[in-house]
Order: sequence, then structure tokens, then C-alpha cells
Amino acid sequence: MAIEISGSSRVCGALEIQGSKNAVLPIMAASVLCEGETVIKNCPDILDVHAMGDVMRGIGGRVQYRDHELVLDTSRIEDGRIREKKAGDIRASVLFLGSLLARFHSVSIRYPGGCSIGSRPIDFHLRAFRQMGAVVEELPDRVCCRAEKGLHGADLPLCFPSVGATENIILAAVMAEGTTVIRRAAREPEIRELCDFLNAMGAKIRGGGSDVIHIEGVRRLRPVHWQLCSDRIVLLTWAMLTAGCGGEAEFEKAAPFSEAERQILQKTGCRIEESGDRIRIRQGSVPRPVPYVRTSPYPGYPTDGQSLLMPVLCRGSGVSTIEEGIFENRFRMIRQLRKLGADIDYVSNRARITGVTKLHGAEVKADDLRSGAGLLIAASMAEGVSRISNEDYIHRGYEDICGQLRALGIKAADIQ
Ligand code: UD1
Repeated sequence: MAIEISGSSRVCGALEIQGSKNAVLPIMAASVLCEGETVIKNCPDILDVHAMGDVMRGIGGRVQYRDHELVLDTSRIEDGRIREKKAGDIRASVLFLGSLLARFHSVSIRYPGGCSIGSRPIDFHLRAFRQMGAVVEELPDRVCCRAEKGLHGADLPLCFPSVGATENIILAAVMAEGTTVIRRAAREPEIRELCDFLNAMGAKIRGGGSDVIHIEGVRRLRPVHWQLCSDRIVLLTWAMLTAGCGGEAEFEKAAPFSEAERQILQKTGCRIEESGDRIRIRQGSVPRPVPYVRTSPYPGYPTDGQSLLMPVLCRGSGVSTIEEGIFENRFRMIRQLRKLGADIDYVSNRARITGVTKLHGAEVKADDLRSGAGLLIAASMAEGVSRISNEDYIHRGYEDICGQLRALGIKAADIQ
């Protein structure tokens, strides 16, 4: 299987933005903190949600997905031992460490997998659990944490505002004895969404979305019904597609761009109109270069958006520089972009992109989720036909990818 794109069309169309992957996965992990039925509406139909659901089934959870509604019944989960092999395939499964440790005072799980964009250690997570009173055992293939007397609150300054570590500590702390303070916490919108969700369950969290989060432990939580926010990275994907191909698109159910994203899109030549949850983007010319951008934690330009911006800068005249500030192995897509005719040099985490008059179709391979999406953008900009293999990476985070591309005027099809 692969995705085939006949490129060089202008973008023209409208789309509703799907629910957020990076918000729903931590919320799924949070649902095991209590017994009962959690309902998540606007849940995206993507492989990562189904893989996370399989991990929950493996420990006795009941998981039903229908028509963008996810029902998670956690009443029959009896302990924190995750044997499911799939846990090793999905990055977000690491978040069960915090929530199962909080509920059962004991958890064991395979080391998390996910996209190969760097070494992705979990030392910040484990250090925090130890400081909260857990005994952590790092075995060759799995990690086990135990806190026989339960967890206690702690003052936890992070070395770096890690999204996953911030989420895992919040999950561990909501039912711990006393107060936990996370300093230098990640500020991504998905952290705020997780805190709002947990507060609706009865947690006492202040400061979600800021760099200092206070969590006062509570005895028990209750299941809730939740309407998920929309996916800001998916919106950025379609915005970058428009920036690269030219044309006009309108998005509904969209969260506003961050200032950093808006500025970069405008630098490429896009005009953006935002009104409520509708966003219209127009690109009249070939993309303009962006002299320098460095990815950084929120509210900076996101690392996930790096792979979406790079293809846009491959066409046009002028030189752009992108510096990757979060992950150490996030330039693997460059090899693939070169097959499409891109002119890119890089040293370590700094890439220099010289715009070319045209890209041409080629056979390319996705190396991770966002690089796969970036290749879809590049293939849509290129003249001729391209085939993108390893497309399962893309299905991890994008719902009905070919249907969505076609809704925006791009000729895309799944092929055998
Ligand atoms: C999350 C997002 C991912 C995004 C990333 C950065 C989800 C499911 N995934 O990934 O889409 O690209 O944030 O915005 O929400 N680090 C350590 N030790 C740790 C934890 C992290 O050294 O214990 C380092 C990482 O190697 C990396 C940096 O911190 O260099 C950021 O990682 P982190 O924010 O934790 O990323 P994820 O939560 O894995």
C-alpha cells in the first residue's frame, strides 16, 4: 500500500479540523484513574487512538469507538501490569505509568515506542516518580514502578519543559498525598486540556498551560463526558499545504494559530483571516523564504511543524534556515525531499534550504508521522506523480488522509 499524489494542483476547498491526537492520548491514559465510563466526543479516527485502546483492553478496559465517540469503561481494570505488546509501539502508552501508578500503586510496561525522531528518553518521568516516593526498576525491556504506601506530593523542577513528563507527573500527582508543584512545566495547549479534563473529574490542579503547575492530591475521581479540542498540528498541516501549493482554503472547528505559527505562515506569503473557529488562508504566489526559524517548546514554533514547513521552503527563490531545537534526529525527511528535487544541506540540527523553480514526482518513504505529512505537502507541490510508502505512520495521526487531501483539491489516492 502507498499514497499516490498527482501534484501541482492549487489548494481549493474547505475542511473541518479533526479532534486533537496529542490531547486525546493523555486523556485516555487519565481515564484509568477512576472506575466507570468516560466518554470522549470529537475523538479522531486514527491509528494511535486505536492502539492506545488496545493497550487499555489488554488490562481489562472496555473500549468502544463509534462515529467520533470513544467510550472507555475502566471498571474491570484490576492492576497496573500492561502485558500488551502494542504498548511498545506507541509513545503515549508511557502515560499509563503515571495514571496506573496513581490508582494501583504499582505499574509495569514495555518501554514506549512511537516515531523515531530522537532517542526520546523517559528519565525526567522516572526521576519525578522516585521523588514522589516510588521505587523504579528499569529492566532491559520494561519499566516497573511501585509505591506501596502510595505517592506523596513533591516540588519537581524539570530540566526541560517536556510535554510527556509534565503530563505523566500530573497523572501521578492528582491522587497523591499532599501537593505537587511542577516547575518549568510544558505549556502546550494539550497540557491545559488534560488539566481541565482532570479538574472536571474532581482533581485540584492550578496553572495548567503555565510553567508552574500546582496539584493538590484528592482521594478519588469520577468519570466524565468530554468534548475534545481540535488538532492544532493538523490545522498547521493544511495551512502549510496551502502555503506550498498556493490557492485558498477554509477550515472549520479550528483553534487559532499561535503567534509563532501565524508569523511563519505570513512570512511564506499567506494571508490569514480568523473569525471564531473559522480560519481562511490564501496564498497568491510561490512561497517566500523564511530566513531563520528555530523550533522550541510552546509558545515557540513547534517541532512537529518543522517537517511541515521544510517542504514549503523548498520551492521559490531564496534561502531559508531551519534549526531543530527539540529532537536530535528530526531531519531524516531531507533524504526523501532531495528525491523530489529539493536543494537542502544540513549540519547537525541546522538545515539550509535553497528554493528551486520546481519539484518533481518521485517514490518516497515516510520516516515518522509528521515527516510523512511533510512528504504529502511536497508531493502535492511537485510536478508529476509521487508515491509515499510507510503510509501507516501518517494514519497514526491523520484521519481519512486521502479524503481530506481531495477535499482541499489535491489528487490523492490509496493504492495497492
Ligand atoms: C510530545 C508530542 C510530540 C511533540 C513533542 C514536543 C504527544 C503524544 N507527543 O512528545 O508530538 O513533538 O511533545 O513538542 O503529545 N526529554 C528527555 N527526557 C525525558 C523526556 C524528554 O531528555 O524524560 C527530551 C526529549 O528527548 C526531547 C525533549 O525533551 O528532546 C522534548 O520531549 P517531550 O516534550 O517529552 O516530547 P514528547 O512528550 O515525547
